[in-house]
Amino acid sequence: MRKPRNRKAASLVSLALGAISLLAPGCRRAKEISQAPPDDRHAPYNYIGRQAMVVAAHPLAVQAGLEMLRRGGNAVDGAIATAAALNAAEPFASGIGGGGFMVIYLARLNGTTVINFREKAPALASAAMFKEKGEEEREWRTSTGLAVAVPGALAGWDLALRKYGTRSLAEALAGAIAIAEQGFAVSPTFSSINKDEYERLVKNLPEGSSYLNEGLPYEPGDRFRNPDLAGTLRLIGAHGVSEFYRGEIGRKLVAAVRAKGGIMTAEDLASYEAIELEPLLGNYKDVTIRTAPPPASGGLHLIQFLNIIERWPVRKWGQNSAPFVHHLSEALRFLFADRERYLGDPAFASVPVRWLTSDEYAAGVVSRIREDRASEDYPFTEHKEDKRDTANTTHLCVLDREGNVVSLTQSINDFFGTGIVPAGTGFLLNDHMDDFASDPRSANAPGPGHRPVSSMGPLILFREGKPFLVLGSPGGTRIFSSLTQIVLNVLEFGMSLDEAIEAPRFFSFSKAGKPEPIAVEARFPEGIIAALRALGQEVEVREAYDKYFGGAQGIMILREKNVIHGGADSRRDGVGAGY
Ligand code: DON
Repeated sequence: MRKPRNRKAASLVSLALGAISLLAPGCRRAKEISQAPPDDRHAPYNYIGRQAMVVAAHPLAVQAGLEMLRRGGNAVDGAIATAAALNAAEPFASGIGGGGFMVIYLARLNGTTVINFREKAPALASAAMFKEKGEEEREWRTSTGLAVAVPGALAGWDLALRKYGTRSLAEALAGAIAIAEQGFAVSPTFSSINKDEYERLVKNLPEGSSYLNEGLPYEPGDRFRNPDLAGTLRLIGAHGVSEFYRGEIGRKLVAAVRAKGGIMTAEDLASYEAIELEPLLGNYKDVTIRTAPPPASGGLHLIQFLNIIERWPVRKWGQNSAPFVHHLSEALRFLFADRERYLGDPAFASVPVRWLTSDEYAAGVVSRIREDRASEDYPFTEHKEDKRDTANTTHLCVLDREGNVVSLTQSINDFFGTGIVPAGTGFLLNDHMDDFASDPRSANAPGPGHRPVSSMGPLILFREGKPFLVLGSPGGTRIFSSLTQIVLNVLEFGMSLDEAIEAPRFFSFSKAGKPEPIAVEARFPEGIIAALRALGQEVEVREAYDKYFGGAQGIMILREKNVIHGGADSRRDGVGAGY
């Protein structure tokens, strides 16, 4: 099983070690256990640790987090150092121009908490704001100032550090600053995304922006540096997040958004707050799930999905067998119908979480699924109001030697967000207004201060009261179905963490009650695809390892073996390291 991973990734790790160790001269280095990974980047490979582990979508970000842990920081310090470093190392997926969610487990308190740092709509947002744009709606939602929601990342990182960390924001930003300043060789993933998004980027990026290489997309191996971002992060480290929310950087942000047709004001930025929430709780057999509640929806849908799946003989059917894919795909379409109907920001809409996660709900979905044929319609489930119920992305996982855990997903939505960069700041602004619904009557319609529903689902799974699996993924609406498949691969099909992550994936959904095809990775055998078609399912075959299905990162704590496994998805540039 221990096969070395792709050489390019391995050399990036050593480069990272060189770059980041500059930050801590004289610091004694704990012995690193992570070995040379396999030549075939898709070959299942678990990074190994005994005390601590960091897994994220770029080797430099992993090293920034690990360095923080080695210097005595806890998992929260390590997670924020990693999250910030991702802004420098994987800038097209997340950063201070975006937002997200994190789940934190504190071993000393045996308690779990959630920080919601999702972006918010500006005060001038209104329910019909996109519909009014008519044919230009798509463009306005993704590429203009109107697409930009008020960023939450720095407020969330800062809140987590102040409440649960042991290090300052300046220390947590140091790794990111070093990466932005010194730069790194662009990976094939970075280069291909840069090429795919080129047209949008040319339209919005300021002249000379480092997100293009002298106006052209980066080729693999080209060096990417971002001195403007280093300067921005240095200012924020010195003066605090108020530099961003109330200072010069904020003024540049608002000016850039408004120059591109946006409605954000200085007051929107100044009033942004990240919030701490109780985790959402679910169960699957003997496992307890703790995750971020709405407006995050990935964890909620995973709990709904697992409640349904628990009623089926999945082990007997077999992983990725025709009955397995058929039943799960049908369930996904019903779940999407209810998502469309009921999900919104709970600060403004009543989301029936208790009912959606109930046995009664799961039994209802199961009863609507035919084993011998695909349905034609997937209507939402009727729900009577119950008073008790009112109430391009990246994932990273960190475990420290005290047993504290962080599971954090953050995003600027589309790759490179809107492509808008406030003058001289080096960070990209999100297009998360695109996660609002177009229909002004939807529970997820835009509104002043509303947070758009997110598919993110950072998870911590517990057995006998102790965390044993930390997991999350990008991938938009595919997030919860990909995470569910990984969880089942581990719990039902006995796979190791990275085998579970690399295994072939599928996805299906419904739109306005009508089915969309089942998407499968090309590694699905012909016979299974034919059997699904015979059940009336339309099947669409995608790449063998398709980043459409996300880029999951996980940590598995094997207590009985006294070993920690890190699993990183080869569909994107995932890497882990532990000691
Ligand atoms: O929050 C959400 O649901 C989306 N904006 C996430 C987008 C995403 O995962 C893109 N990554 N492939």
